[in-house]
Amino acid sequence: MKKILVTGGTGYIGSHTVVELQHKGFEVLIVDNLSNSNIEVLDNITKITGTRPHFENFDLANEASTAEFFSRHHDLDGIIHFAAFKAVGESMFKPLEYYRNNIQSLLNIMACMKLHGMRNLVFSSSCTVYGQPDVLPVTENAPIKKAWSPYGNTKQMCEEIIEFTTGATEINSIALRYFNPIGAHGSALIGELPLGVPGNLIPFITQTAIGKRECLSVFGHDYDTPDGTAIRDYLHVVDLAKAHVVAINRLTDAKNKKKMEIFNLGTGNGYSVLQVIEAFERINNVKLNYKIVDRRPGDIEKVWADTSFANDELGWKTEIGLDEMMRTAWNWEKHLAGKA
Ligand code: NAD
Ligand code: WQD
Repeated sequence: MKKILVTGGTGYIGSHTVVELQHKGFEVLIVDNLSNSNIEVLDNITKITGTRPHFENFDLANEASTAEFFSRHHDLDGIIHFAAFKAVGESMFKPLEYYRNNIQSLLNIMACMKLHGMRNLVFSSSCTVYGQPDVLPVTENAPIKKAWSPYGNTKQMCEEIIEFTTGATEINSIALRYFNPIGAHGSALIGELPLGVPGNLIPFITQTAIGKRECLSVFGHDYDTPDGTAIRDYLHVVDLAKAHVVAINRLTDAKNKKKMEIFNLGTGNGYSVLQVIEAFERINNVKLNYKIVDRRPGDIEKVWADTSFANDELGWKTEIGLDEMMRTAWNWEKHLAGKA
């Protein structure tokens, strides 16, 4: 049985990945300081899979705590590193917190991997590293544009840290550049837990539909897109979770072709904000209160992934469509509200 550490494993993408790993027979350890998640997620993972993962609560940006953890767990086959702060807007006024948390935790983990001879690291990166690409769909070889937020900058810096460190050590890594993960587990037992006013589109839609928010603002109607609203590549979180199982197997089976590999993870399809709203209303039979407002500063117009490298090389492809993303997102919101 392969033993995998999932950092940030009680978070949104981490919890879905833990479920998929356990379904495939991996032994999973979670480290999470619960800065953006809830301990009850562990009970819900256990309900879904029948197995309670080993859990430890500490800050991975703390060097001593991380070293102490690895001194007790030096037989890990691989690490999937999700733990990070991720709110783009918040990072603009808390840059130092973002740099410390996201960079320091990676440095601590890689130093411990080197010390204990651990070789396999999967890292959560983001399509945010591309900014507004010049060519669509965007491939992994597209130029990295200057980051406009500290959050995006931490992802660029972490990729560079990994590239140079894998070049100089025994560590191998796969960085996965996610496009827009949405939706929730089919059981409605795990999903995204946005704190405060959501910055992302889907939690804002579901919270508006349930009555927590009065009205969704659609940011911009004058983009160079068919209906004037911005386009993104939304993918279901369970499809995304499954890609991590493929990636960690590729590393632990030594099937990787380079010390560091980078893959786009998306569906390859772009949907506009109005198309997302239409799908949500239709599949859930709910009317959404929304209005068109000005563009949101910093937003890009359109982006979707060229997924051929992930499809061909990882043998991974998304299976879940937009309707199911909207259905599971709504079921999760109803579950949170105690109405389901
Ligand atoms: P999340 O906030 O739900 O999960 C992150 C988890 O990490 C949380 O449970 C949090 O408590 C934990 N954590 C944060 N800092 C920690 C630290 N120093 N020590 C221990 N635990 C810590 O976020 P998510 O949406 O699941 O994202 C997971 C990863 O994927 C992040 O690295 C994020 O940047 C990246 N990503 C997310 C998206 C997205 O849209 N959700 C897109 C691209 C990339
Ligand atoms: C999607 C679309 C908005 C809210 C962010 C990060 C990115 C990555 C994914 C981590 C855009 C529009 C949104 C609302 C709206 N995360 N929108 N009204 O901006 O593509 O990406 O999350 O790495 O780094 O930047 O996602 O969900 O915020 O927005 O009209 O209330 O919905 O303008 O076109 P985004 P999002």
